[in-house]
Amino acid sequence: MNSEDIKQVYPNISEILDNDSILGLKFCSKGTFKLNNELNSLKGLKYYYSDQHTKEIITHNLKWALSKEKKPKFQFIYILLPTNCNQKCYGCFTGKDLETFPVKSSDTFYSKKELDNILEFALEHDVKAVVYGGSGELFTWHGSIDYIKNIHKRGLKSVIFTNGSLLDENKLKILNDLEAALIISIRDTNEHNHNLLVGVNNFKTVLKNIDTAISLGFSENNRLAIEIPATTDNESRIINDLLPCLRHKNVIPMIEEFLQPKNCDKTYSAHNFTESRTFFNNLVCMDNTLGYKWLPELGTRVLGQPKCERPLFSFTVLPNRDIADCPAGFKVFGNIKDEAIQNIIYSSKYKSQITDFKFCACSVFYSDNDKDIPVEQKAIYT
Ligand SMILES: C[S@@+](CC[C@H](N)C(=O)[O-])C[C@H]1O[C@@H](n2cnc3c(N)ncnc32)[C@H](O)[C@@H]1O
Ligand code: SF4
Repeated sequence: MNSEDIKQVYPNISEILDNDSILGLKFCSKGTFKLNNELNSLKGLKYYYSDQHTKEIITHNLKWALSKEKKPKFQFIYILLPTNCNQKCYGCFTGKDLETFPVKSSDTFYSKKELDNILEFALEHDVKAVVYGGSGELFTWHGSIDYIKNIHKRGLKSVIFTNGSLLDENKLKILNDLEAALIISIRDTNEHNHNLLVGVNNFKTVLKNIDTAISLGFSENNRLAIEIPATTDNESRIINDLLPCLRHKNVIPMIEEFLQPKNCDKTYSAHNFTESRTFFNNLVCMDNTLGYKWLPELGTRVLGQPKCERPLFSFTVLPNRDIADCPAGFKVFGNIKDEAIQNIIYSSKYKSQITDFKFCACSVFYSDNDKDIPVEQKAIYT
């Protein structure tokens, strides 16, 4: 594809595509992007990122767990679905690459009544959005758009983690009209590496859909993030190519540490603590150059976000209907097939995880120095 073709196929992102040898996210006219001396505020993905409101919810929930408030509040809830996937990403933490999770048939999807009960509970507890974070890829399911419409009909918004390859202009228009927020995941900044790591040749399609999402205005109101798990292999392209490109296009860079499942080979490794420190410091430097000021703190795993405290302001419904602390399902409090969601959330077991909250193993990455690394995390990740 020559540069004229690129402009036609990707009118909104053509200026950040480099086609020297392979299609990649990189400024076409290398080195000519403008450095920004003005300070820009760090934008968070709508409904999803932590902000001052999140801190208020956490404070409220701590009071509730100590019986000083009547109801808990939640910023969002994750509803994970038994969806299949069309990719086999290296190291996918839901095991889709290795097929360690059985493919579930469509009759295991939530019944309307089950879904309504969850949404009712959500609405009564201040929830603003429902997040799809797997398991699998939402748009492999024929019912996906109706599912999202149903959520919105109830007055909630949706945040959707997607690999972006099964979207098209029509679906994106519907999602935009519903004011959904999208987190489109890629695995590397160029066609060759991305396709290799996801096991499907779809990088160009994903770029096309990112281009369309930008043209529809998702990025203008903080509803578009590009997610990429950082490894020792892709980190320099993330810092030098992806971050400037996304800042330039007003898209939220959800650059996060890759969590290496134990059974993965080490070709594309997760950072250890020292590497993570260097990585985040390099992200900070690049962002400073681009006019964005932020600092990582102990536990930062995602660019510009604090350590993960999700269990204090959200909960997760796993595909089997377990109610868990987060999508990784470290702690399970009950199953909505057995008892009402109200009983599970208002239980002493649930309240005590709020009063006795501890960071999970995957929440602790960035640390200013070695002595700050919690012992148990050190044992897992160094
Ligand atoms: C499990 S996927 C499900 C949604 C969708 N299929 C996708 O890939 O975006 C949700 C998110 O987890 C991320 N992810 C998967 N495996 C990961 C890992 N080992 N470490 C860090 N992030 C990972 C994906 O990149 C994606 O952003
Ligand atoms: S697309 Fe998402 S669910 Fe599918 S293999 Fe990749 S990370 Fe896993």
